[in-house]
Amino acid sequence: MSTLIKEDLETLVTDSIEDAARLLCQGELVIFPTETVYGLGANALDPQAVAGIYRAKKRPADNPLIVHIHSLEQVDELTHSVPDYAWELLRAFFPGSLTLLLPKRPLIPDATTAGSDKVCLRMPSLPLAQKFLKACDLPVAAPSANLSGRPSPTRWQDCLDDMNGRVAAILKGPEATFGLESTIVDCTGAYPVLMRPGVVELEELALVVPNIRLNPVHNKVVLPGMKYRHYAPQAQVTLLNPGEQPAVTGEGTAYIGLTHPNFLTDYSVQAGSTLEYAHRLFAFFRECDRRELRQIYAERVDENGLGRAIMNRLNKAAAGI
Ligand code: TXA
Ligand code: MG
Repeated sequence: MSTLIKEDLETLVTDSIEDAARLLCQGELVIFPTETVYGLGANALDPQAVAGIYRAKKRPADNPLIVHIHSLEQVDELTHSVPDYAWELLRAFFPGSLTLLLPKRPLIPDATTAGSDKVCLRMPSLPLAQKFLKACDLPVAAPSANLSGRPSPTRWQDCLDDMNGRVAAILKGPEATFGLESTIVDCTGAYPVLMRPGVVELEELALVVPNIRLNPVHNKVVLPGMKYRHYAPQAQVTLLNPGEQPAVTGEGTAYIGLTHPNFLTDYSVQAGSTLEYAHRLFAFFRECDRRELRQIYAERVDENGLGRAIMNRLNKAAAGI
């Protein structure tokens, strides 16, 4: 069985969409780029292949996977009872960094949705991702391509760090355009509900579906994945208000934020915009891990637009979840 994780599995790092797609169609695990973060893909219709994702990532079995598609026709093949407001969202944001939760058809095995009768669908906009998904011509289940608990990978080299020897191939692509995961909207009820803030902003969604609601249990467990450690680097993460001076600075510390830090650190990233902050955040966490730093200071941003997604990830990292 090719999907069993062999410690000595040779991971092919390739530019070839055809080779990567062929391996995935043979039941293997293939990492591929998207505009949000890199995904760890397997045939979403094959329970054996999907089981391989959980093994390779060391992902808890009750945390379902997003299914990636390349054409709107697949929406009807894979889901049913799609409400009108979901079609509005599909027409406005697919392809793109939006994921919709919809009632699933039995064609999608329970292994892919961790037993749920609902499935998350997304159509990435990165041209290389679209070409890959088209070449596979299958729905592709893919979580972020990190080991469970590590920051999501934004570069193929990060994927190799976490997954070398655990997957059949990595399709090399550009550094992720956004560096944060997709926005998830629950479309299984009478009105849309924002489940995970992400690249597509609530304000943009509200222009298309004005009745969208914020998740009522904000910051509590709502998606199965949210109860697990997610975005945390090894270092302690402490959030600062702009201009705030921490007690401990200097050796072993790092900073990321929009304003220039008025204290010394070993490593600091000043982002010029929330877009750049989002883009660099996970790579910054990984660099702090590589440098074995022990204290990270991250500056808070306003919770609107992309700032909502940044604060969601920062709060989790600071809480160690
Ligand atoms: O940008 C992204 O969304 C990336 C790229 C690769 O597409 N994927 C990603 O997947 O972030 P992952 O597995 O790291 O996060 C998906 C989240 C998890 O919290 C999971 O619990 C939730 O979506 N989810 C997936 N399918 C679900 C379902 N059927 N019901 C409820 N939650 C679901
Ligand atoms: Mg993830």
